[in-house]
Amino acid sequence: MQLFLDTTDTAVLKDLATTGLVDGVTTNPTLIAKSGRPMAEVIAEICGLVEGPVSAEVAAMDVEGMLAEGRKLAAIATNVVVKVPLTRNGLIATSEFAVEGIQTNVTLCFSAAQALLAAKAGASYISPFIGRLDDHGADGMELIREIRAIYDNYGYDTEILAASIRTPAHVAEAAIAGSDCATIPPATFEALFKHPLTDKGLEQFMADWAKTGQSIL
Ligand code: G3P
Repeated sequence: MQLFLDTTDTAVLKDLATTGLVDGVTTNPTLIAKSGRPMAEVIAEICGLVEGPVSAEVAAMDVEGMLAEGRKLAAIATNVVVKVPLTRNGLIATSEFAVEGIQTNVTLCFSAAQALLAAKAGASYISPFIGRLDDHGADGMELIREIRAIYDNYGYDTEILAASIRTPAHVAEAAIAGSDCATIPPATFEALFKHPLTDKGLEQFMADWAKTGQSIL
């Protein structure tokens, strides 16, 4: 499973990238606003920090605007993936990007039917928003299972990118459900390493090791 970082914080990205576990990055207009930096500058910097896909979202709502913005974003670096909203216009733009060989991430997916349309349009990635569905009283993980079944039934190669991840359990459940990727906020990514029993066990091992008075080196 590919693990992406959902962030525009390049300091945090640099730090987590040293683990070798960050396969890519996703951004959105909210995260660009949070960075306080020009979008082209922050996307270029992120693309220099990770070799994998970096999603950069268009802001236009019309097809021509999406195409113009997407082409400009794709020109920033070879690993840019153009993120488009799951609207009728977004899927028309997705089809054209597919013809032009520009990778796309179709975002704001909240139903299996929407995901089916995105795959038919030739999306490289589909982003179902798990946490926001849970917030809404629905079962976000069920959507991952439904999309997996549909894509497997018809052999679509659109990759499922579980988004709006809130907890380590979301990451594990998305992996069990067969999601190809998950995009994770930095704090949740850090939490993936941790378990209280790991800390407790290590503390005991180190205390017992100290009693031996030995040194491995
Ligand atoms: O980037 C899209 C998604 O991951 C946003 O998550 O937590 O704002 O619902 P959230």
